[in-house]
Amino acid sequence: MNQPQHVAIIMDGNGRWASGRGMPRYHGHRVGAESAREIVRTAGELKLKALTLYTLSGDNFKRSKRELGFIFALLDHYLLRERQELQKNGVCLRVIGSIERLPPKTQSMLQETEAYLQAGKGMVLSIALDYHGRSEISAACQRVAELVATGAMQANEITDATVANQLQTVALPELDLLIRTGGEQRISNFLLWQLAYAELYFTPTLWPDFRAADFLVALEAFGKCERRFGLEQVSMTTGSP
Ligand code: IPE
Ligand code: IPE
Ligand code: MG
Repeated sequence: MNQPQHVAIIMDGNGRWASGRGMPRYHGHRVGAESAREIVRTAGELKLKALTLYTLSGDNFKRSKRELGFIFALLDHYLLRERQELQKNGVCLRVIGSIERLPPKTQSMLQETEAYLQAGKGMVLSIALDYHGRSEISAACQRVAELVATGAMQANEITDATVANQLQTVALPELDLLIRTGGEQRISNFLLWQLAYAELYFTPTLWPDFRAADFLVALEAFGKCERRFGLEQVSMTTGSP
């Protein structure tokens, strides 16, 4: 079966999972963190090259201080608790987006954990925090404009690769598969450039319920896709064009 190298996930539905049970939203985040742990472990075991998790969007900063505080505390807890196992499994951790608006404790926890896992030669786990796909592209454009302004390149030499080289995902393989849980069929400003040829998998399952078996179903669906990258269909047996 065709296995993706790079999978990204929009982990949505924590709030609805909790309110459906008459519980406060934070409970959904707590159980959702367990799903994240299980999916990271499974992805590592399957030897995926890269897993990118949409953990907090730039727009999520509009949520209440209380909810955000809970999410950051949960992140601190997991970074500390999972470090050793991630290291044992050769996982390398990176943050995409920005840590500037995060509480100082979470910022240092992320920096320490990135340093701790820096030598990992296995899967690259990217956590998107305060991430904003359009801003990632406009920041890349600014840096390309600087290259042109300083004479390092000419405007007519700018290619797709020039822009891609300025994105935070530069070191990662092409994105093969995007999974979104929680039933919405939208991208919510995630990896806009990188999604160019990715397969999209939407499931109504809410993130706290999305576990290893559900992940395998998504990977299986990917395995059945014929990716054409603009070429003609090759699996038809009906002869001439
Ligand atoms: C995703 O779940 C987690 C974050 C955005 C932090 P939500 O909190 O968006 O859950 P719903 O979509 O309201 O159910
Ligand atoms: C997307 O979920 C962001 C994350 C899962 C981190 P949202 O719940 O914020 O997205 P919208 O608001 O439904 O588009
Ligand atoms: Mg949501």
